[in-house]
Amino acid sequence: MNINPSKVVIIGSGFVGSSIAYATLIQGLCTELVLIDSNQDKAEGEVMDLSHGLPYTSPMEIRAGQYGDCRGANVIVITAGSHQKPGQTRMELAQQNVEILRLILNQVLQVEQKAIFLLVTNPVDVLTTIARTYPELKAHRVIGSGTVLDTARFRYILSKHCQLSPGNIHAYVVGEHGDSEVPLFSSVSVAGTPISLLCRECSGLCGADYRKQVTAEVRKAAYEIINRKGATYYGIGLSCTRILRAILHDERSVLTVSALLDDQYKELEVALSVPSVLGKEGILQRLPLSMDDAENEQFLKSVQTLQESVRQV
Ligand code: LAC
Repeated sequence: MNINPSKVVIIGSGFVGSSIAYATLIQGLCTELVLIDSNQDKAEGEVMDLSHGLPYTSPMEIRAGQYGDCRGANVIVITAGSHQKPGQTRMELAQQNVEILRLILNQVLQVEQKAIFLLVTNPVDVLTTIARTYPELKAHRVIGSGTVLDTARFRYILSKHCQLSPGNIHAYVVGEHGDSEVPLFSSVSVAGTPISLLCRECSGLCGADYRKQVTAEVRKAAYEIINRKGATYYGIGLSCTRILRAILHDERSVLTVSALLDDQYKELEVALSVPSVLGKEGILQRLPLSMDDAENEQFLKSVQTLQESVRQV
């Protein structure tokens, strides 16, 4: 539980925004939680519903607000925009969601520029790239939820296969949060041991076919969920609260968030995910990537995909 005063504002009270709010409440991540939505009734309804859980959670002030309520926020989470319909890619949402982002930022930046901005709306890397073009915002404080969720999916799938707790599997998905993302098999480890040496299922194989199958499973996860239930929200809700916790508790945890790469990949000029250290000032460090040649090739393709999309919006 966080006992220091801390304010989180969530813009967009759809499935994703309200799932983040719910997980934030359950985890007691802040002392003040404000929900904003273009449909004020929706935000108010979510606030009423969440508030009725307060007798069973840590104390928190939860309310519906306007853009002016972003003033003084520690973190502003942006989830507003259209979400994928069955069969639609994240990239197909770019044009309309970039326009929505611009409308939101134009309002919010009038009252708050120092907060950390956590972008969640898809295509999240494109939106994070656009947000970085606002001179009011500092590079390390503009963060996309990136492949934090994909990394969780990768760890979960590996944990099932190897019959180990996902918490003990060190594995990362880098690049775009989308179809070109790259699960880094070459660096997967448990207690410092490469996973291929301890996987009981394959007696040390976990070979190329298996990797291909897992890569496809990670990349298609959202499509599979959307085909069945119309949207994804619990997984992204928990991924975002993991990011919020790292920031609000100044954890210095390593998470695969999206941001403009400012060190080794400076010239790329697109936001994408690599393992990054997160604390109360935002992104403290981007870690160098350890990839084999095939992964490096896929990573560069992912970069090109994003560069192309950013050029088009
Ligand atoms: C997903 C959405 C959040 O991957 O892009 O579930």
